[in-house]
Amino acid sequence: MGTTSGTASAMHPLLLRQLKTAFGSAEDVPESLSAFCMSVSAEYHRADRDRDLTQRSLDEMSAELTAHNETLRRERDEQAALAHRLEEAHNQLLQSEKMASIGQLAAGVAHEINNPIGYVNSNLKSLTAYVQDLLEMIAAYETAEVLLPAEQLSSLAALKATLDIEYLKTDLPAMLGESQEGIDRVRKIVQDLKDFSHTDEGTFNWADVHAGIDSTLNIVANEIKYKADVVREYGALPQIECLPSQLNQVFMNLLVNAAQAMPGEPRGKIVVRTGCKGDEAVWLEFIDSGSGIPAENLKRIFDPFFTTKPVGKGTGLGLSLSYGIIQKHHGKLSVTSVLGEGTCFRIELPVKQPEA
Ligand SMILES: Nc1ncnc2c1ncn2[C@@H]1O[C@H](COP(=O)(O)OP(=O)(O)O)[C@@H](O)[C@H]1O
Ligand SMILES: [Mg+2]
Repeated sequence: MGTTSGTASAMHPLLLRQLKTAFGSAEDVPESLSAFCMSVSAEYHRADRDRDLTQRSLDEMSAELTAHNETLRRERDEQAALAHRLEEAHNQLLQSEKMASIGQLAAGVAHEINNPIGYVNSNLKSLTAYVQDLLEMIAAYETAEVLLPAEQLSSLAALKATLDIEYLKTDLPAMLGESQEGIDRVRKIVQDLKDFSHTDEGTFNWADVHAGIDSTLNIVANEIKYKADVVREYGALPQIECLPSQLNQVFMNLLVNAAQAMPGEPRGKIVVRTGCKGDEAVWLEFIDSGSGIPAENLKRIFDPFFTTKPVGKGTGLGLSLSYGIIQKHHGKLSVTSVLGEGTCFRIELPVKQPEA
């Protein structure tokens, strides 16, 4: 097949192999089959091209599917993250709802107690003055006693002894003083409750954060007093534009956490330190000598429901709520901790809130 040899290089390798099998060599293919062979070869080549094309489009489709899959996976992850954020927001809402109603309750109770305390307090003051007058009167009578006949004098002395008038003279003013102190303390608690539950849920007011910390410290005094001493190192701060009762919740959470991190023995220390950062911002630090936080927990403590405390003691909401409140103030809440030495929570707050 003379012409075949000339085109053998163009001949499809599969056909070439078949011709070799059939005729021994491509050269031995009869001339008459040459045209037929060429057209078969061309068909083979076309079939190859078609297969390549199909393969390429299959590859493209598969790449597209992979990309699509990737998009779907990303979308699913985004949705999961969104659902998580939604759940967080929902929980924070629940918690602030709860705090708001506790605040309202406290404000209501404080208001109710205020009234009776008012009149008990004013009566106590009158009573003290009256008792003073009576005692003065008795003293005057006593100086006049010498003028009485002996018989009457001795029966008066007997009555005095039975009634223990001498004791009464010193005990009565002391009792009244104690009662006044008690009432003053109740008044202070009521004032703290009122400060604490400030009815300012949604609106920013100018307030003194030190007053907020002080009233919160009074509220949580019981939680702290058996475990730690509180040291206040206050700087000179301007009033800041804030939601005072919500900031008080933050202070409360940080203080209670600090108290709960104390080992009990030896007695711990909580330092509340404040200062200014230029004219624009203030900072507050709550530093405790408690257990510290292990590195692997540090990045999770602000997560809702993250707690290392036993059921009933911890809800894991305090810090996530606090974080949200500080964010609402366009501030920053950060933490540093050394295991076994203690923890410092630092709050930075702008003096003035940015224009809405
Ligand atoms: N001052 C602190 N010292 C040590 N660990 C702390 C301190 N504050 C917070 N933590 C850790 O962070 C966790 C989360 O705190 P929080 O959100 O207030 O929830 P809860 O107090 O209900 O556990 C706590 O369980 C505790 O492990
Ligand atoms: Mg807590």
